[in-house]
Amino acid sequence: MNVLGIYGSPRENGNTDLMLDSFLEGCASGGAVINRVYVRQLHFSGCLECGGCDATGECIQEDDLVQVYPLLDESSHIVIASPIFFYGVTGQVKLLIDRSQAPYMRRELAKKQGIDPMLESRRRGFLLCAGATRGKKLFDCAVITVKYFFDALSVHYAGEICHRQIEEKGAIRRSPGALEDCFRAGREFVEVE
Ligand SMILES: Cc1cc2nc3c(=O)[nH]c(=O)nc-3n(C[C@H](O)[C@H](O)[C@H](O)COP(=O)(O)O)c2cc1C
Repeated sequence: MNVLGIYGSPRENGNTDLMLDSFLEGCASGGAVINRVYVRQLHFSGCLECGGCDATGECIQEDDLVQVYPLLDESSHIVIASPIFFYGVTGQVKLLIDRSQAPYMRRELAKKQGIDPMLESRRRGFLLCAGATRGKKLFDCAVITVKYFFDALSVHYAGEICHRQIEEKGAIRRSPGALEDCFRAGREFVEVE
């Protein structure tokens, strides 16, 4: 069992970093091997919509995502953490998600051969989010975007933890039980069959 944690905030040690750190500690306590990707450290572009992956399911761009694609393909569990930026995931996360067009095409190619990888997949995904305001629909866009990201990867969406009214760096530490909940959710994430 290996868990890929995707850190989607540009702010180091910010709220969603702390949430993901605790979640991954929970996963590790359940025996998982952890890999971490810090999107802010990567140099890559968005999808070029060049159609280069249409026939192969492989992206033609040679950038830092070359190292990330195998982790997206092979991890049994994926957890992505993002603050809310203008009612969605960060631009950095969205660029990464757009680049999952290549695995999406691979899935479509498999379907044409009569195989739906989603039906056979036991891979699971989770979302962690924080936003500053109280908006009723604050997390709607992020949730649906990440659900489709996981779908492209044949990963079953297992749930989310989203916190409102969390703004300045480290504010999540002052939210009673928030990081403990992330730890527990991480542990459950890898224990559920
Ligand atoms: C560019 C930018 C856009 C933001 N947009 C929103 C928003 O639309 N709604 C909201 O509630 N908070 C918004 N925020 C606040 C962050 O979501 C919030 O501070 C969050 O806790 C940051 O998490 P982090 O420390 O993991 O980066 C925005 C912050 C920035 C810098």
